[in-house]
Amino acid sequence: MIVSRRHFLQKTLYTGLLIGSSLSVSLNVARADKNKPYHYTLTLEPADFPLIPGTTTPGLGFNGQYPVTPIKAKQGQQLTIRVINKLNQPTTVHWHGIRLPIAMDGVPFLSQKPIMPGETFVYQFTPPDAGTFWFHPHVNSVEQLGRGLVGLLIVEEADSDSFSPAQYAADIPLMLKNWHLNKDGSFKPLMKLRNAARMGTSGRHQTVNGIAKPVIEVPANGWVRLRFANVDNTLVYRLKIKDHPAYIISIDANPLDQPRPLDSYSIGVGMRVDIAIKTPQAGSEIVIETLIGKRKHQELLRLKTLDMPSTAAVSAGPPLPSKNPLSEPDLSSAEVKRFVFEWEGAITPADGEGNTTPKFWAINRIPWAGMSAGQIPEPLAELSLGKSYIFDLKNNTPHRHPIHIHGIMFKVLRSNQKKIEPFFTDTVLMEKNERVQIAFVADNPGRWMYHCHVIEHMKTGLMGYIRIS
Ligand code: C2O
Ligand code: CU
Ligand code: CU
Repeated sequence: MIVSRRHFLQKTLYTGLLIGSSLSVSLNVARADKNKPYHYTLTLEPADFPLIPGTTTPGLGFNGQYPVTPIKAKQGQQLTIRVINKLNQPTTVHWHGIRLPIAMDGVPFLSQKPIMPGETFVYQFTPPDAGTFWFHPHVNSVEQLGRGLVGLLIVEEADSDSFSPAQYAADIPLMLKNWHLNKDGSFKPLMKLRNAARMGTSGRHQTVNGIAKPVIEVPANGWVRLRFANVDNTLVYRLKIKDHPAYIISIDANPLDQPRPLDSYSIGVGMRVDIAIKTPQAGSEIVIETLIGKRKHQELLRLKTLDMPSTAAVSAGPPLPSKNPLSEPDLSSAEVKRFVFEWEGAITPADGEGNTTPKFWAINRIPWAGMSAGQIPEPLAELSLGKSYIFDLKNNTPHRHPIHIHGIMFKVLRSNQKKIEPFFTDTVLMEKNERVQIAFVADNPGRWMYHCHVIEHMKTGLMGYIRIS
């Protein structure tokens, strides 16, 4: 077992989103000028990360950082991000969960040309929804995400001036990632075929905001909003807060109707969950862990309460953000489309050079063939703009798959394995043999990726797209 040393998170390192407390520090992501509050520059470049004390890891970083300071945007206000590619390979940046125009979705060939080394691409869109989102390349994902190109995009509520500062004493982004590292900080293989055909290759160096088991200082006696994001390539985290009540307030950026008491919550790759806790008196510690199987658990981080001045009112229950402006699907007129996720171990087509790209997974019997400028596969479904659809999803595999659709939010209606309080989301975690029905209004025209977010699964077949026109 690797015993990781515990590090105190520097106040200035990653508390840029603490709101309404003395710890407020401004974001240090580059801004074009003061009059343009939502302009950022992200340079993708190789960088050494001090992930294991005393070593360096040859990573890839946004602005050479891990974690990159979260990008802060505001619901209903234009956001501009200039992306500069200083990698030695093509890239794009995808804004996971944001309902934006297709040209800004950051998928090579389907929505834009890849950004070549040395090139710049400007993403510009107005996020209609508030909440916790994230961003990552959509090119060579095993390596680019696996080596560190993942970041958070926090879209503040349009009414945030009256919401967050008034009601939460602190607002803390928490990026979960397990790195594939040797003890000397070098990378182990990010993908092994025998794992890609199963649950994926997991790392061994667990971090929260780049630190193993951080201790994060939070204000005592107030409501704290914890924004968990699973930016890992592979793992499902089963979050549990030990011996302290906590509430889910939002799933994948969508506030629930009612805060839901947290027992444990499984968050698959790509998913986010906002959790509210009312902190005890100063000098207390709260342990947050991930459950592994039936008996094992691992500490992810610890919160330590401090006396800090706060202007936030302390309400009896956790404050809930306002709902995002999503259209309700019309279930009575909705057309049903069926999708079966299967394991297809035998297919290993070779390309022109005789290289084989194994395909282990398929959607409706079709393993994703990959794409290039001249060759884009057919969509998995053609949808009419404005119509409501029910997707009936069946996982016919003995593995879990976080299934994600770009460009829309969908409502999870029911499952054959558990009782569902219908909720909107952009990624749904399907358990083995689970059947889930989701519904949405096809209100965003474009060709939208539809894939499992376990990176090795999407790379070996569990990917496709839908066209809305
Ligand atoms: Cu995080 Cu294709 O998405
Ligand atoms: Cu996405
Ligand atoms: Cu999968």
